[in-house]
Amino acid sequence: MSTGEDRAGASPSGEGGKEKLRRRAQRQPTPAISEIEPAESDDDQSRRRPRPPAARRLDRVLQETESKELAEGGRWSICSAEAATLVCSIVICVVAAKYLENLPQDADRKVFTKEELARYDGSSGGPIYLAFVGQVFDVSKGKQYYGKGGGYDFFAGRDATRAFVSGDFEKDLTDDLTGFTPEEFRSLMEWRSFYHKDYKYMGKVEGRFYNPLGEPLEDLQKFEDGAAEGNRIAELRKAERAKYPNCNSKWSQAKGGEVWCKEGYYPRRVMEPSSGARLKMRCACFKDQQHSDLRQLYDGCSPDESRCRTAPAQKGGKAGKAGNAGSDNKAKVGAA
Ligand code: HEM
Repeated sequence: MSTGEDRAGASPSGEGGKEKLRRRAQRQPTPAISEIEPAESDDDQSRRRPRPPAARRLDRVLQETESKELAEGGRWSICSAEAATLVCSIVICVVAAKYLENLPQDADRKVFTKEELARYDGSSGGPIYLAFVGQVFDVSKGKQYYGKGGGYDFFAGRDATRAFVSGDFEKDLTDDLTGFTPEEFRSLMEWRSFYHKDYKYMGKVEGRFYNPLGEPLEDLQKFEDGAAEGNRIAELRKAERAKYPNCNSKWSQAKGGEVWCKEGYYPRRVMEPSSGARLKMRCACFKDQQHSDLRQLYDGCSPDESRCRTAPAQKGGKAGKAGNAGSDNKAKVGAA
């Protein structure tokens, strides 16, 4: 639809038409945004012209929107940083817990009562634990030995260290180590190393070797001192044997016992280094023919003989005591 005025000035090229156009332009309402924004390339023009109110309003709206978005974006990045920190903390906690779980110190903190330990005897099909010199091990993987019906099931759920030396699996199922020699303590130490190596260490049992806080008691110290002394003696023995090798030996009903050394060496009875609790003799080979109380001659054997009888043959086939050979008549093969 058009007004009468429009129809009157249909040709803008005439003088009257120009005037009409000027007036119309002055009456123009607020221009459209696209008309206000200067073209990208028309920089100079836009600097010269003041920004119309509508453009300024638009600028304000744009600025507000932009700062709102920036603020929200900031909030999001803060949130995601917090979430990442939380996830990292959880991961660190889980890893640390797993690590601590496997540390021996952690097991060190667990102190079983005897009653508690007794529940791990494998009877209910659960894990099997045994204690050795007060230390508890999970021996479930050795179920064939320690499980019900296994050859060593009497060790499960208790500390029966004494029987590991005596071999008496009825009377000695106890942790009482009274009267043990350093050599015996040493052999127990080897058993303990075996359990540490082959099975999982679970903690301690309170009683003879540890108090309820898991702190060592006097009997543990005695065991450790005894084992250390046993080690010292074992080292001495080793050195002696390296210096003066064992004799060869044999025994038969028909001929009795016999010891001998290789050509140029002479057999003598000597005392083994020991704690003194039990004297142990052995046959050693010496290069020289000397003899003394510490290097005894065998009965009926001259200093220059390299082969000696240790026990006479038995009439009727029964062997008697091993003459003066002491424990040496049991040695199978020594250095020649
Ligand atoms: C003081 C005497 C003895 C004690 C304290 C003892 C103790 C043990 C123990 C605790 C085990 C299980 C080892 C493990 O957890 O892997 C074991 C295994 C075994 N023991 Fe004894 N034992 C003694 C004497 C003997 C004797 C005299 C023999 C044979 C005549 C013997 C034959 C065996 C055999 C064959 C195994 C299985 C070894 C294997 O398959 O690896 N044990 N012994």
